[in-house]
Amino acid sequence: MTMGRSHQNSFSVAYGLAVVLVFFVCSASNTPKGDPTTFAKTSTSPLQNTSPLQNKSTRNGNFCFEDKCRCVGSTADCSHNYGRLPFVPIIQGRRSHLTFSYNNLTRVGHDDFFTNVSSYFRKMDLQNNGLAFISSGAFRVFDFLNTLHLDNNMLTYAAIKPVLLARRLQVLSLTNMQLGSPPGDFFVPRWRSLNLLRRIDISNNKIHQLNFSTFAPLTRLSVLLASNCQMLDVTSAYMPGLQALHLVSNVLFNMPETCSNSRTSLFPKLGHLILRDNKITTLPARVCLPELDSLDLSVNPIKVFETDMFRNRFPTLTKLFLNDIQWNAKSRIDRFAFRHPNLTELSLMSCGIPFSYDNVDPDCFTGLPRLGLLQLSHSLAYGVGDAKLAGFFSSMTGLSKLYFGGSGINIITEHTFGHLSGLTILVLYQNKLVEISDGAFDSLKNLTVLNLSQNLLTTVSKRLFSSETQHRLRHLDLSGNPLSCACDLLWFKQWFVTMPNLFSHSHTTYTCKNSTSTVSLKDFSLNEQACLLSMQTSKIIISSGVIVLVLAALVATVYRYRWYIRLVLAFHTRGFVRRQEAEEEFMYDIFVSFDSDDLGWVRQHLIPNLEDRLGLRLCIHERDFVPGKNILENIEDSVESSRRILLVFSKHFAHSQWCQFELNLCLRHSFEHGDALLVALLGGVESRDLTNAMMAVLDTTTYIQWEDDVQFRGRFWERLDFALQSLLPQAPRPVLP
Ligand SMILES: *[C@@H]1O[C@H](CO)[C@@H](O)[C@H](O)[C@H]1NC(C)=O
Ligand SMILES: *[C@@H]1O[C@H](CO)[C@@H](O)[C@H](O)[C@H]1NC(C)=O
Ligand SMILES: *[C@@H]1O[C@H](CO)[C@@H](O)[C@H](O)[C@H]1NC(C)=O
Ligand SMILES: *[C@@H]1O[C@H](CO)[C@@H](O)[C@H](O)[C@H]1NC(C)=O
Ligand SMILES: *[C@@H]1O[C@H](CO)[C@@H](O)[C@H](O)[C@H]1NC(C)=O
Ligand SMILES: *[C@@H]1O[C@H](CO)[C@@H](O)[C@H](O)[C@H]1NC(C)=O
Ligand SMILES: *[C@@H]1O[C@H](CO)[C@@H](O)[C@H](O)[C@H]1NC(C)=O
Ligand SMILES: *[C@@H]1O[C@H](CO)[C@@H](O)[C@H](O)[C@H]1NC(C)=O
Repeated sequence: MTMGRSHQNSFSVAYGLAVVLVFFVCSASNTPKGDPTTFAKTSTSPLQNTSPLQNKSTRNGNFCFEDKCRCVGSTADCSHNYGRLPFVPIIQGRRSHLTFSYNNLTRVGHDDFFTNVSSYFRKMDLQNNGLAFISSGAFRVFDFLNTLHLDNNMLTYAAIKPVLLARRLQVLSLTNMQLGSPPGDFFVPRWRSLNLLRRIDISNNKIHQLNFSTFAPLTRLSVLLASNCQMLDVTSAYMPGLQALHLVSNVLFNMPETCSNSRTSLFPKLGHLILRDNKITTLPARVCLPELDSLDLSVNPIKVFETDMFRNRFPTLTKLFLNDIQWNAKSRIDRFAFRHPNLTELSLMSCGIPFSYDNVDPDCFTGLPRLGLLQLSHSLAYGVGDAKLAGFFSSMTGLSKLYFGGSGINIITEHTFGHLSGLTILVLYQNKLVEISDGAFDSLKNLTVLNLSQNLLTTVSKRLFSSETQHRLRHLDLSGNPLSCACDLLWFKQWFVTMPNLFSHSHTTYTCKNSTSTVSLKDFSLNEQACLLSMQTSKIIISSGVIVLVLAALVATVYRYRWYIRLVLAFHTRGFVRRQEAEEEFMYDIFVSFDSDDLGWVRQHLIPNLEDRLGLRLCIHERDFVPGKNILENIEDSVESSRRILLVFSKHFAHSQWCQFELNLCLRHSFEHGDALLVALLGGVESRDLTNAMMAVLDTTTYIQWEDDVQFRGRFWERLDFALQSLLPQAPRPVLP
């Protein structure tokens, strides 16, 4: 048995006892348990009307036309006159933004309607007017108009057409008008081209069919918003300038075609594709979006996330949103499903991903070298062990933000997020954490924001955060936990009141409960005397535990040092009694026990000095054992017929089974006859090389160390001579060489 092993053994005995003790103490206090809950899903409301119209009485600015318009900065607000303002007045000052909504302007009846504002104004809101008619030349007068909001009117495409004559128009918003699909020639330029139009919003209409051919003449079109349009089908066309396409909350069963017949991209510049809340179940085999940066497929009934599903189709993707995808019995996430060299953000919020299931592959997040943000909130991770959970994150050392709230996580140890060494933000609100291992977050050396709000923590251990972690954290949220106003919370209350900024970002307040009421944490106080007293009681419990542990350790130690103890006892009871046998019974003076690898030393140094110089007779097995006799008998006989035993300890001796056997024989002999052993220690022997028996001998016997250095050799022989004095004939001592 090696030394390290035996220490471990005595330690594990003590540790085992400690575990048993802790178990008894713990099982006395019932830990609350909860079922994994299904969490409220974020609502998927259709795109809101983007013009939050202000309430007139709360608007500021000075009147700049009668009591009907107010002006502030570059904005003239003539809204909410509900029919009292049937024309657009002259506005003082150089304004650029006219708000003319809620004016019951049902008709722009003649071409001069806007001439009072046509030379400065760049932006105009005509929303919520019940507008149904626009005179054909009314918008031709604008020199600079670039943004026009016509939302919430009663216009048809035919009625809208005059608007397209505003020659600098860039942004056109036509939401909430019951519009159908635009006619094929709607944007065909007439006498002036629409070559500046870059953003069109036709959301909240009834465009069952979106035909990109209609928009193809708009070569500068970079943003098209057509959300919430009951859209069933998209016909693609070459859109060289399109950068963002939002088709949220439609009824699309497929992703729009993106490849031309010749496999070039129809949307070569598309960077953002938002297909949230549709009916897409699978992705097309071919996708040609060479610049796609961000893809949102949230709220689609995707069941299977197969290997390399996104890497193969969207090589340039950096942000992927897959929120609110309902998990069901057929759902599956395969190995390397999200693998991607360029992805920096992955959001799988509110999907209810069951991390304990086999159909969620533990390597699904492997191969995301650049991922910085992972959003997994509202998954199902109740009862998933820390080792399994850690496995999902094992390759994400670069991750800096992890959101994992509302997922029923009940166990966190230092292993759970141990691989995520780059983490700066860790959000774990609304889980089922009852207890967190001390120091669970201490290995996250960059962690500055930690959100543990709304869990089931009843106390905050003083050792939960090392002082280094305490100093590093910038925002810590432990609000909404059912803390109990007990003595062990006093330190936390102290921290809480001294570091208000650290705890200021929580929405819920910090409270703790005593047996009768709930108090605000900062008002919580306890008699410190009482706390000390209760500490005394726990000290008694702890000290009895310690006594048990000490006893266990003692037993282990006795076992470990059994050789040593036997030797000490043997020597002390017998008191180094010398054998008094007659000289002639001994054939040898010294039995030398050594390993054959050290034979050279014995020949070169020991024999010349002891035999030739001192005239002693040595028993060297290579030389003196009787040939043909059983080796065991040889040893026993030789030991018996020697007056003393010299053990030559060395590395070789320690590693030789045979020597160990011989050592045991010698020790037995030494016990039986009360003989002191002589020990020479050759060379530097590390204590880990020594066997237990050798250690015990060295600890109880004064040994003589042999150094290869010539100048120390004299000392070696002097000491050996001294030890052998009783064996020497009473003659004058020979001079040392
Ligand atoms: C305008 O604001 C006032 C006070 O803020 C409120 O009482 C009134 O209902 C609001 N009117 C409208 C139309 O929102
Ligand atoms: C303005 O339009 C609203 C809604 O269409 C209507 O209720 C209101 O009576 C109209 N006001 C006038 C003065 O016509
Ligand atoms: C221009 O504004 C003035 C009042 O400021 C108004 O009297 C006139 O009718 C407006 N012209 C048009 C064409 O609306
Ligand atoms: C889309 O529009 C183009 C041009 O107007 C037309 O040729 C084509 O048939 C339309 N496709 C569909 C599916 O409506
Ligand atoms: C994305 O990854 C591919 C393959 O690793 C690489 O060639 C390409 O340059 C990356 N694109 C971006 C935008 O990082
Ligand atoms: C921690 O942050 C520093 C500075 O932002 C950065 O250099 C270091 O790589 C980060 N450590 C880890 C383990 O990501
Ligand atoms: C922690 O999460 C909760 C719930 O989302 C949130 O209200 C709170 O602001 C967060 N705390 C911090 C410090 O971000
Ligand atoms: C609980 O707290 C309240 C308010 O601080 C205090 O009045 C009451 O005595 C406490 N009860 C116990 C049992 O400590």
